[in-house]
This record gives sequence, C-alpha cells and structure tokens, in this order.
Amino acid sequence: MSWPRSQLFEIGDLSWCPSWLHQHEQFTLTKLWTLKFPPWGRESLATKACEVFKEHMQDLSSYTVLDICAGSGGPTPVLEFELNRELEAQGEKPVQFILTDINPHIEAWQQLCKKQKNISYIVTPVDARAVPRLGNKKECRIFNICFHHFSDEDAAGILKSAVESADSFIIFEATSRDVATCLSTILMFFFTFVVTLCWFWHSPVHLLFTYILPLSPLTLWIDGLISCLRTRTSQEISDLLDQPGLDLSKWTFHSGTKIVSWPVVSLRYYAGVKSG
Ligand SMILES: C[S@@+](CC[C@H](N)C(=O)[O-])C[C@H]1O[C@@H](n2cnc3c(N)ncnc32)[C@H](O)[C@@H]1O
Repeated sequence: MSWPRSQLFEIGDLSWCPSWLHQHEQFTLTKLWTLKFPPWGRESLATKACEVFKEHMQDLSSYTVLDICAGSGGPTPVLEFELNRELEAQGEKPVQFILTDINPHIEAWQQLCKKQKNISYIVTPVDARAVPRLGNKKECRIFNICFHHFSDEDAAGILKSAVESADSFIIFEATSRDVATCLSTILMFFFTFVVTLCWFWHSPVHLLFTYILPLSPLTLWIDGLISCLRTRTSQEISDLLDQPGLDLSKWTFHSGTKIVSWPVVSLRYYAGVKSG
C-alpha cells in the first residue's frame, strides 16, 4: 500500500538542530549501513549497494565517485573497500571517492581518510543543488538516503545537473512509502541506544539525551518516519527526468529493490548511466 508523497521536514535538517544531535544522527545512519541481522539477513545495506555498483556500472575504474550529502560517510567506506578490493585483484586502478556535504563532517571524514587512501573530501560546503564538475575522469554522483530531502523542483534540478555534467548517478534509499517500512522505523529508536552505548559512552550529553531524556532516539525515529513519507518511487524519479530540453538519448536507467532483511529492511535504487 502506498499513498501520495509529502515533502515535510526532518529535525536533523533544521538550522536550530544542535550540532551534536546532527552529528549523532549522521553517525547512527553510517552505522545503520553496516548493520546485519544474522540469520535473518547476512548482508548489510552497504554490501547491497556494492551489488548495485557491480551490476550497473561497467568500467568502474574510469570513474571518480562523488558522494553528495555524505553525512558521516554512509556506505562509502564499504563501497571503497569492497569495490577497490575487486578492481585491484583484476589489476585495475582503484576508484577514488570524494565526500561532500552542505555541513562538512570534517572530523569524521579525517578519520575515514586516514584509514582509506582512496577516500578524500571537500572541506567547504557543497550544496547538492549546485554541484561543481570535478576533474577529468568520468564522474558518478551518489545520493545515499538523501534524495528524499529535496522538493520536486530541487530534485529535478539535481537530476538535470547530473545528466548534463556527470556520467552516471545512483540514488539509494532505505525508506519507502509503505506500512512495513514505516513501522520498521521504530528500530531506529532502539538502535540509537546501542550506538550511544558503543561509541558515545564517554559523552555526558549523549548519555543524558539517550538514556534519561531520549531526545536522540526520538529524533532518529521521527526523522526515519518522515523520510518514509518523503521517499519517491522509481516512477516518480523517472517523471522528474522528463524535462523539456534534457537530452537523455545516451542514458540508460535501472531501478530495483535489494532485500536486506525481509520484510522491513530493503535498499531501493535508481541508477542512470551515460554511454560512451
Ligand atoms: C539523511 S543524511 C544522509 C547522510 C549519508 N549520505 C548517509 O547515507 O548516511 C542527509 C545529509 O544531507 C545533507 N544535506 C541536506 N541538504 C543538503 C544540501 N542542500 N546539499 C548538500 N547536502 C545536504 C545533510 O547535511 C546530511 O548530512
């Protein structure tokens, strides 16, 4: 069952959202990408994202991957590790990944780049609605669980820019407008308790706003639920590409769903690839 999309807004996007809460939310989302529920599901959202790359992106080593709205990194560390491990085994050059965000998460990105030499980042804010073309290699723009943040007008502009300036793009969403996924967002509430315990046990602010006043778990849950209500179907993304004067003649589009843990955790994707 689905219903019309609502634009709404998320707490993490509001200008008055405290920076510690924004960072806690982004960090929790990054951990969510690698979460596995064995034996219910032996793979993570991130490993499913790797599958999408392998299925639809030929000649991967000729690309630079630009992570738009990267947050704390999302699936990019896993993508870099898995995809480059395979490329290197085949004697191919590794793919470079570049993290960008309107609120650059410099501290988190520095940690990542120290460990993974094929990941770098742009220090200054990069607005997804005005992404500059970078370098001479082919460019793949990835939008990890963020495309739903944009109004139809902005989303259409983002797609237009990807078609006109880049060589491929992939939109990944872990939410969708159906009852099972909306109900599953309650898992974010409990997952935040685990994240605080494992990674923020030394921070009085995080402990207070997780275990005494559960502001962080509630924010993650509410934003997850709102993300569901904002997420577009593949058809709605296709419709946004239908713009006067936008030449799609060299482009092929693929979309689908990868089940991570049935029936509540799935990865939906919409990929566009330019030939030649
Ligand atoms: C839901 S998070 C996704 C984070 C990350 N991609 C992941 O998968 O965990 C959304 C991110 O989009 C960023 N964002 C929101 N509006 C943006 C814009 N106009 N341009 C670039 N980034 C934006 C926020 O700062 C936040 O880091």
